[in-house]
Amino acid sequence: MTALLSSLRQICGAAQVLTHEDPATDLSPWELDWRKRIRGRALAVVRPGSTAEVAAVVKACAAAGTAIVPQGGNTGLVVGGVPDDTGTQIVLSLGRMQAVRAIDPANLTITVEAGCVLQNLQAAAEAAGFLFPLSLGAEGSCTIGGNLGTNAGGTQVLRYGNTRELCLGLEVVTAQGEVWHGLTGLRKDNTGYDLRNLMIGSEGTLGVITAATMKLYPQPAAQLTAWAAVPSMQAAVDLLGLAHQRLGPGLTGFEVMGQFALSLVDKHYPQLRVPLWQQTPWCVLLENSDSENEAHARAQFESLLEAAMEAGCVTDAVVAENLSQARGLWHIRESITLAQAEEGLNIKHDISIPVSRIPAFVAETDALLAQHIPGVRMVDFGHLGDGNLHYNVQAPAGADGPAFLRDFEDQVNTLVFDQVKRFDGSISAEHGVGELKVGKLPNYKDPTALAMMRAVKQALDPHNIMNPGRVLRP
Ligand code: FAD
Ligand code: MLT
Ligand code: ZN
Repeated sequence: MTALLSSLRQICGAAQVLTHEDPATDLSPWELDWRKRIRGRALAVVRPGSTAEVAAVVKACAAAGTAIVPQGGNTGLVVGGVPDDTGTQIVLSLGRMQAVRAIDPANLTITVEAGCVLQNLQAAAEAAGFLFPLSLGAEGSCTIGGNLGTNAGGTQVLRYGNTRELCLGLEVVTAQGEVWHGLTGLRKDNTGYDLRNLMIGSEGTLGVITAATMKLYPQPAAQLTAWAAVPSMQAAVDLLGLAHQRLGPGLTGFEVMGQFALSLVDKHYPQLRVPLWQQTPWCVLLENSDSENEAHARAQFESLLEAAMEAGCVTDAVVAENLSQARGLWHIRESITLAQAEEGLNIKHDISIPVSRIPAFVAETDALLAQHIPGVRMVDFGHLGDGNLHYNVQAPAGADGPAFLRDFEDQVNTLVFDQVKRFDGSISAEHGVGELKVGKLPNYKDPTALAMMRAVKQALDPHNIMNPGRVLRP
């Protein structure tokens, strides 16, 4: 191990290889996952500054048989980006590789390094007069490498797709330490297997993404946000149908939020002034991005909301008057995750179900959970427009969070995932498998698909050094 550490220091510089040898160095930011579910112990945290350094680090680790855990902003929610507790794995942090390498306005593309923080990528696109639409609550610290690694979703998927749909080309260091130069800005390329899409969503188990060419879009002429009270989940689905009909591609966001989820925001962040939540079981946040102008957008929104009130699927609504009000409404939505964390440990889910079946899924599964765990509290919210619900389970009021997880997590996951399967859904719509779902995946994934995944892993990483034990267990 000492020989490996000294090679890594030669490759990246001594200051970029952090270990527990120095008691003054705190490795918690790289070893503890965002939800504080798992604290791993790394042999070292290595911070290369270039693709060539990443390749040399991977080669050195491969020669030593040392496992590598790629890490971006460490905001992942399924324990995929932190090391295990053996003290034998290295964390390969891409955090120093942040450059915007190129912008091609005519081709509508931007090429960035993997450690570029999502918010900085959005800002670079905006400064060039474009929109980079990927948007999520962790955008101030997650990186595009991590977004690609998890195929992150977020709040604009309805119109622009997941991170996968936004990516045209990748630069990747393979498990052997070779560099795949795939930074094409092509929208069409039918020359064989789609390696880019194989790497995206592989959660660091097949290689290290070092740079990416991403799509840019024109900025909308106007963007309006509304907050609507709806009387039931079915009413929220009906409102979604109306919004699709009336706004067409202008509908860029459609988020649902349950009353208890909003009550947690109100409790932990009262200064945010959550509207309408006390009078209704569900609220919906809608965004209309218009290519004409604000007056057009507002007229469209108002007529949609009037029609929805007449149809009985909206009982009350507010339309943001200006950008700062719109940001405030989005901030409330994005604060649910933090408010839930403040409330205590909980069991998180990021399931997807065909939109049409979500009301029945929620009604049935809520009833089953209440039967099993009297007093259980449901923190439901999410990207209803994509059929993606954060169907989270919080301990009964006053119960001890860690004890609740110990006693009920496995049971609750099985109950919820069995229901997801019955409703033809997926047990992970956006956060990925990581370590938290790896044990359950074989029960819910088609066995032939799993066998093909294992064959891919064996072919690309035969010595299992890339993020071992995540996504697939040997
Ligand atoms: P990390 O957490 O560092 O890593 C995540 C995974 O990607 C790990 O398996 C890691 O090994 C791998 N990885 C990281 N970098 C690379 C690389 N360069 N090459 C190969 N593999 C790599 N997710 C959503 O999808 N939608 C949301 O709306 C959303 N909202 C969130 C809100 C909050 C408040 C928080 C805390 C998280 C949220 N997330 C959401 C989850 C998380 O932000 C995303 O999964 C994000 O994509 C992770 O990026 P990261 O840079 O932090 O990656
Ligand atoms: C979100 O949509 O806010 C995220 O996916 C985070 C979460 O599930 O808490
Ligand atoms: Zn989400």
